[in-house]
Amino acid sequence: MSIKRTDIPAEEIEKQLAICTEVRQRYEGKKPLALVDTFGCQQNEEDSEKIRGYLAEMGFEMTEDEFKADIIVLNTCAVREHAEMRVFGNLGALTHPKKENPNQIIAVCGCMVQQEHVVDKIKKSFRHVDLVFGPDELWRFPELIYTVMTKRKRVFAPGSGDGCVAEGVPHLRADKVKAWLSIMNGCNNFCTYCIVPYTRFRERSRQPEEIVKEARELVAQGYKEITLLGQNVNSYGRDLDCGITFAQLIRMINSIEGDFVIRFMTSHPKDANSELFTAMRDCEKCEKHLHLPLQSGSDRILKAMNRHYDTEKYLALVDKVRETVPDIVLTTDIIVGFPNETDEDFEGTMSVIEKVRFDAMFTFIYSKRLGTPAAEMSDPFTREEKQVHFDRLLEAQNRISEEKHREYIGKIVRALIDGKDREEGVLSARTSGGRLVRVISDESLIGTFANVKITDCNTWALRGEIV
Ligand code: SAH
Ligand code: SF4
Ligand code: F3S
Repeated sequence: MSIKRTDIPAEEIEKQLAICTEVRQRYEGKKPLALVDTFGCQQNEEDSEKIRGYLAEMGFEMTEDEFKADIIVLNTCAVREHAEMRVFGNLGALTHPKKENPNQIIAVCGCMVQQEHVVDKIKKSFRHVDLVFGPDELWRFPELIYTVMTKRKRVFAPGSGDGCVAEGVPHLRADKVKAWLSIMNGCNNFCTYCIVPYTRFRERSRQPEEIVKEARELVAQGYKEITLLGQNVNSYGRDLDCGITFAQLIRMINSIEGDFVIRFMTSHPKDANSELFTAMRDCEKCEKHLHLPLQSGSDRILKAMNRHYDTEKYLALVDKVRETVPDIVLTTDIIVGFPNETDEDFEGTMSVIEKVRFDAMFTFIYSKRLGTPAAEMSDPFTREEKQVHFDRLLEAQNRISEEKHREYIGKIVRALIDGKDREEGVLSARTSGGRLVRVISDESLIGTFANVKITDCNTWALRGEIV
């Protein structure tokens, strides 16, 4: 596995943009359409915005209709088997639009294609796929698509592991209120269950000045919420020797003038520290939400997961952040059914969640990932046994979330109104802690901050009125 970092020179990106112009000319007189579908995390969403950015430079407009699209890109995720099955299902179904429109180009990118067995499967069993490229090759998407168009041959470009860092790739952002800002890519942690270090390679931080520049542009464009993204944001800058820590980066972005807020994810408990918590406290634009994945409440399992903390350290961290930022909202991720997780281990997890009382939790049943150390571990427990634990955990967390939500009733909170809710005539808003609030209001308020009086709640959301 390579530990390289390759900064892509600005001229290379210029070249890619010149290719975009050539593609645009090929479609002269037509209105080409593209569909980009994302299956993964926020980092993948951000990558999709770059793919759409390039496509827009090529003159494409976006569509949701796979039968109308001239180009379809599936940006995939490999984190759990379920995500991969969804991709293969969707990919299989694309034989139909392709049959109707043989000139249609189908591309598959993202974390899945960084695995050899997936690329082999696409080569052999999904012959309607024209282009495959890994997350590291995204910066040269125009060149790859141009080769497919002009040579009419299948192109396979899974990443080489060079650890590419490219600046200046255009974005087409889906949202007008909230923006993702990727500050780093890759992961060095090798949690034994996780595929990400193999699909995204080692940690590479972007230069702080590039990040601040992008944040300034977003604020100037009117974005109200900027979410800083990285697999482990607390190790930001360590690979750069730039002397800027993640906490300092938050302070730098906080000092940009404007009415906007900052969020970030994800923080690894082994690296989250007081420096971060005091920055969160001091920076008025930094939202008071910390997503701190616990994964398990058993020290034995945490060790087997290679997480580098135990429950005692985790609980001390929770105390510290609550002491520093009293109104902090804490959320977490839990994996149920890691190889050999016994009833006793699981009770450990139940005990920690009752102690911490997280505001919300994302729970996953362990999914075996080929090539990770955990895939080699013995696992005597059945899916049904794991499901029993999973259901118990969910039930406990739903109770805690609802109880925590009840505490908001009658309070007035500041929230960013970020869009329309599924319910007719209702808007969605987010509190500083990231809790969803549904408010009846008129659409003109989307993209503004409002004081909301909380009137009701359920497990997943609050309900309120603008005051
Ligand atoms: N870098 C982040 C998140 C990575 S993936 C972090 O360290 O927290 C998001 C979540 O998916 C993880 O927190 C973990 O809970 C879950 N996850 C990762 N690999 C998994 C696997 N093999 N099976 C089940 N859940 C997994
Ligand atoms: Fe995966 Fe662990 Fe890295 Fe998160 S910190 S991406 S869980 S290896
Ligand atoms: Fe999935 Fe890759 Fe993100 S595996 S969770 S899309 S980093």
